[in-house]
Amino acid sequence: MTAASHPQIVIVADAAALAQTAARRLVDRITNTNRAAVCLTGGSSPLGLYRLLAQDPWRGEVPWDRVHWFMGDDRFVPESDPLSNMAAAKRAFLDSVPVPPQNIHAVATDTDLQTAAHRYEDELKRFYGADRLDPARPLFDFVLMGLGPDGHTASLFPRSPALQESQRWVVGVPEAGMEPFVPRVTLTFPALASTHEMLFLVDNADKRQILGRVLAGEDLPAHRASAEGDLVWLIVQAAAPER
Ligand code: 6PG
Repeated sequence: MTAASHPQIVIVADAAALAQTAARRLVDRITNTNRAAVCLTGGSSPLGLYRLLAQDPWRGEVPWDRVHWFMGDDRFVPESDPLSNMAAAKRAFLDSVPVPPQNIHAVATDTDLQTAAHRYEDELKRFYGADRLDPARPLFDFVLMGLGPDGHTASLFPRSPALQESQRWVVGVPEAGMEPFVPRVTLTFPALASTHEMLFLVDNADKRQILGRVLAGEDLPAHRASAEGDLVWLIVQAAAPER
């Protein structure tokens, strides 16, 4: 049985509390390690958290020189494009904190989609120091995830072949399942699962219905996500399913 069967559900009052709770969880995961790896997510749900990380007291709690930042999926566009997830994370916090540039791991966009996916996979493997994921030694300390209106997470869309990927750590997604319709590069379920904690952020009432379906066990991508460590759904009250 995977951890996906038993997620921990944490309900908070509103988006401000969601950002604060996520910051606490993230910082707790990365402070007592020699080198930490965080996998960020795109979309709007993590932006409140990202902005907090750039401000005290959280900014002072992050050991910036020891933390590496990756992106779980990105739109295959240059960083100058407003659709870029890494550019959004940079604007929200990475550009205004003392993080060494080599600790920011972005997907390359100066090549073709498949080469970019392979390169990002190679970068993850180099960072990890092995070609195979060992369940006893997760790749990430903390993985952030969002929930799309169709039940997608990262760029793992319903009915996509990427959902079945069991060997590759990163794949190219030529056709996105929903807007924005640009190709994507995404980590696969096995790579995302290699984490001490996976935290889903559900930040508004519009997600209530799809969240109910995911938590009820419908075979949607977000339901398939699992973690070697803790799998946690952090949900604002307005999106929480009725009990
Ligand atoms: C992306 C994301 C995607 C996102 C969800 C939720 O690149 O679009 O990584 O998986 O997390 O679509 O998006 P919101 O946070 O904007 O609701």
